Amino acid sequence: MNENTNGRTVALVTGANKGIGYEIAAGMGELGWQVGVGARDAQRREDAVRTLRARGVDAFGVPLDVTDDASATAAAKLLEERFGRLDVLVNNAAVAGSWNQEPTTVDLELVRQVVDTNVLGVMRVTNAVLPLLRRSAAPRIVNMSSGVGSLALQSDPDELAGLVSAAYAPSKTFLNAVTVQYAKALSGDGILVNLACPGFCDTDLNGHRGTRTPAQGAVVAVRLATLPADGPTGRFFNEDGPLPW
Ligand SMILES: NC(=O)c1ccc[n+]([C@@H]2O[C@H](COP(=O)([O-])OP(=O)(O)OC[C@H]3O[C@@H](n4cnc5c(N)ncnc54)[C@H](OP(=O)(O)O)[C@@H]3O)[C@@H](O)[C@H]2O)c1
Repeated sequence: MNENTNGRTVALVTGANKGIGYEIAAGMGELGWQVGVGARDAQRREDAVRTLRARGVDAFGVPLDVTDDASATAAAKLLEERFGRLDVLVNNAAVAGSWNQEPTTVDLELVRQVVDTNVLGVMRVTNAVLPLLRRSAAPRIVNMSSGVGSLALQSDPDELAGLVSAAYAPSKTFLNAVTVQYAKALSGDGILVNLACPGFCDTDLNGHRGTRTPAQGAVVAVRLATLPADGPTGRFFNEDGPLPW
């Protein structure tokens, strides 16, 4: 049954139990949206839903492990039964893997796990909920990427001595490429698909070395989730504007 009789936007944020995803959920809640908190751990999910609700967010829990086909299918079923559609998907869940990612020595199993979460996880969840997005009047997909996935920025001579990452950074490059393909495939359907870089934020992902708050990192994702119908698609942005590929 479709409960969404009042026309309020329904969003799903993956990996929303903490960090930037949690703040994206909070930001969407401030817009009056109904926000699905996608999270794989029941306790962490319930805690996040409870604290978001205490902040006035109309949050609900969505059990979701993005590496698990059955879990993605079940999440889509939950949304289908409760709302009959989905308006906004934010593919935020990601892992960095251990930061020992020299290409010459990296554990290939680590690369496999990072790609499975950060790239295939996005495709898995997107494809599972796509029939629900097609029922929305203003469907939007936001994929959380990173400036470290930009080949242009990485190959800048001034950056070559920077982060060496044979799993996480290339996973975001792969995600960027895949997102462009989604934007092309869905361009006739009014589904806008874009990439957001939150900047270097203080979260578990980087051992809290980031200098921006998770709430600051969430701003660009909320902006891309609220694009007008004639907004961009297949583009890569941070809070200040377009980023180079
Ligand atoms: N922090 C930064 O400086 C930064 C910079 C650029 C881009 N980003 C991107 O921003 C996004 C959010 O990062 P963050 O810094 O907020 O990271 P974070 O604090 O580590 O949070 C990552 C989230 O993803 C979830 N997750 C991981 N694997 C999952 C899986 N298999 N299924 C479902 N959820 C899973 C985690 O859940 P658990 O709690 O269960 O592990 C957690 O909720 C990521 O896409 C990241 O690559 C971050």
